[in-house]
Amino acid sequence: MKRILLLLTIIIHAPGLQAEDGYRLWLRYDKINDAALLNKYNTLIRSANVLGNSPTLAVAKEELQNGLAGLLGKKIIFSAAFNSSLIIGTVTQLQNKIPGLGQEQLQKAGQEGFLLLTKNNAGTKQVIITANTDIGVLYGVFHFLRLLQTAQSISSMNIVSAPSIKLRLLNHWDNLNRHVERGYAGSSIWNWHTLPDYIDRRYIDYARANASLGINGTVLTNVNANATTLTRPYLEKVAALANTFRPYGIKVFLTARFSAPIEIGGLKTADPLDSEVQNWWKEKANEIYSLIPDFGGFLVKANSEGQPGPQNYGRTHADGANMLADAVFPHGGIVMWRAFVYDARVQKTNENFDSSKVDPAAQNIASADRFKQAYNEFKPFDGKFRKNILVQVKNGPIDFQPREPFSPLFGSMPQTPLVMEFQLTKEYLGQGTHLVYEAPLFKETLDADTYSNGKGSNVAKIIDGTIENYSITGIAGVANIGSERNWTNHPFDQADWYAFGRLAWNHELSALQIAQEWIRQTFTNSSVAVATIEKFMLTSREAVVNYMTPLGLHHIMATGHHYGPGPWVDNLSRADWNPAYYHRADAFGIGFNRTATGSNALAQYHAEVNDQWKDPNTCDEKYLLWFHHVSWSHKMRSGRTLWEELCFKYQSGVDSVRWMRAQWNSVKEFIDEERFEQVRMFLNIQLKDAIWWRNACLLYFQTFSKMPIPAGYEQPGKTLDYYKNLRFPFAPGN
Ligand code: GCU
Repeated sequence: MKRILLLLTIIIHAPGLQAEDGYRLWLRYDKINDAALLNKYNTLIRSANVLGNSPTLAVAKEELQNGLAGLLGKKIIFSAAFNSSLIIGTVTQLQNKIPGLGQEQLQKAGQEGFLLLTKNNAGTKQVIITANTDIGVLYGVFHFLRLLQTAQSISSMNIVSAPSIKLRLLNHWDNLNRHVERGYAGSSIWNWHTLPDYIDRRYIDYARANASLGINGTVLTNVNANATTLTRPYLEKVAALANTFRPYGIKVFLTARFSAPIEIGGLKTADPLDSEVQNWWKEKANEIYSLIPDFGGFLVKANSEGQPGPQNYGRTHADGANMLADAVFPHGGIVMWRAFVYDARVQKTNENFDSSKVDPAAQNIASADRFKQAYNEFKPFDGKFRKNILVQVKNGPIDFQPREPFSPLFGSMPQTPLVMEFQLTKEYLGQGTHLVYEAPLFKETLDADTYSNGKGSNVAKIIDGTIENYSITGIAGVANIGSERNWTNHPFDQADWYAFGRLAWNHELSALQIAQEWIRQTFTNSSVAVATIEKFMLTSREAVVNYMTPLGLHHIMATGHHYGPGPWVDNLSRADWNPAYYHRADAFGIGFNRTATGSNALAQYHAEVNDQWKDPNTCDEKYLLWFHHVSWSHKMRSGRTLWEELCFKYQSGVDSVRWMRAQWNSVKEFIDEERFEQVRMFLNIQLKDAIWWRNACLLYFQTFSKMPIPAGYEQPGKTLDYYKNLRFPFAPGN
């Protein structure tokens, strides 16, 4: 028995056989297997000196120690010697010792950026990682490790890097009972029951992963908020997380339930103009800051999808946001007020709700076109928000669809900093099982030209404050993280977390560059494998658009769980919950007329944008059905009719997934068995689902077009009724 155990231990610890469960994300630090490269690094890196010992510098040192030991396969001597080959510290610590640190570069680095330099010191090369602040040094260390992990040269570095957006946040839609709304990777990583006493190692690794990308804040709780979060016992739990994250430069934020003064404060109202209510929030803020001195602030979803808000009291979004902003202002806190509004119905629990006070316009606009509601409700308040408020806007006007035009709010509220909200979790993109790399989606929005200040006013320049200079700017990603061992369920979903963080730091990086970095760190530096994987990652977003919602279709998924197709649904209580409301298929054609002859949502954009989309004959075909109701026999640029093009797109979506699967199989030899198998099985699910989407949608739309699926395309093997009768009562994430 003993012998068997010994043998097992040897096998488990034998190099190359270590099980790869994905837990280490992109911070694997396995020994570099290119001997020549390893030799180069080893010649340069022999010793290190980390100056200073703040908590942040301590974690920087630890990361460097672990990273180098793993990558180089040897222990590096850390000492206080100034001739060490790596010198790490803030400018203040280094100034006297390393003359000639470029002032201009340091200025560029700012409060969070860093410098990575290779210098000649008495004939030998020396690497310097420095910054104006401790956190800048930590970010520099992570960047240096990234260069080693991705096999880059470090022999003549002269890098200065600084983030273009100030607040780079994850938003967790995590409930206190650990259910994650729209979460497909297990339950919440926050174990509220064992907090504050038990600090799960996961919290630390979460902080490391985020810091490695420069993510500097996290909203711990769901936007559909629970007032209990703001009670003392929970604030103590939040404080324990804040203490854990602090060395990594990550601030915690909470969602604030607008009716909290009633629910946990015993007040009769939550009216933002009531002085008792205002005081309650001030006291609450004081309490929070006494426990968490660097608390970031609040994220608020109000008067949307049944959440309470200022409109319950006949007040405005500005009244509500300003009241909260005043409460956190003395402490340096901020408020992010969400513009995702379309349903001002309010919950009637715990309060004397007077429905006559809800702005009737807010109710009616939705039935005309939900697309327009956020703009209509928020644009009038531009300039009316306090300085410590940002309005948080989803990338598109509806709700995280596989493809949306950018929200018309970008470029329309010059006096208000807008936080870009992307969804990393794939609510509408195949959830936990489809391989869809989201960076191309993020880039498409960030690069879109709003023309708010002439040509070149792209969305990225609006949110980063290039066009209007804001004192605070932000970007948020709705997290895709859960308790699954590999954090995200699908191994490739880690890439979306990674891509979000990298773009939040530098939105000029391309989706390709980011994919390459991620593959090299996560899987392999083999150039064959990298070239193959990057290609299908970049194709994957267009694939999901094609097999779910081609040519500008949107919001045609099944009710509730949003997993599969449900274009036939037309019986939900609100018109704008129904897929039929969005696709408007009839005997003539399909699509939502949002031009001047329809809802005129296009008028919410600047004239140049409106001009580029308003004519169905010149509108970019990827947005065609977003803006036009087009005849089935409309001639597309390909020469096909609209119906034929729809069939073509659905089929090519399916074909792309087949191709992705073949590509993945071709790199088997470069991938550890565990993750290879996981991805292989997920791709099989994805293919099944893509076929399901294609068949269900084409069969349904065919009932209007009355046209055949052209010969040469795969024909659906099942009936429309079969697809209509599929049920998924326990689908995750609801
Ligand atoms: C979507 C999603 C909800 C979420 C909402 C939001 O509608 O389905 O689960 O609460 O967006 O962003 O607030």
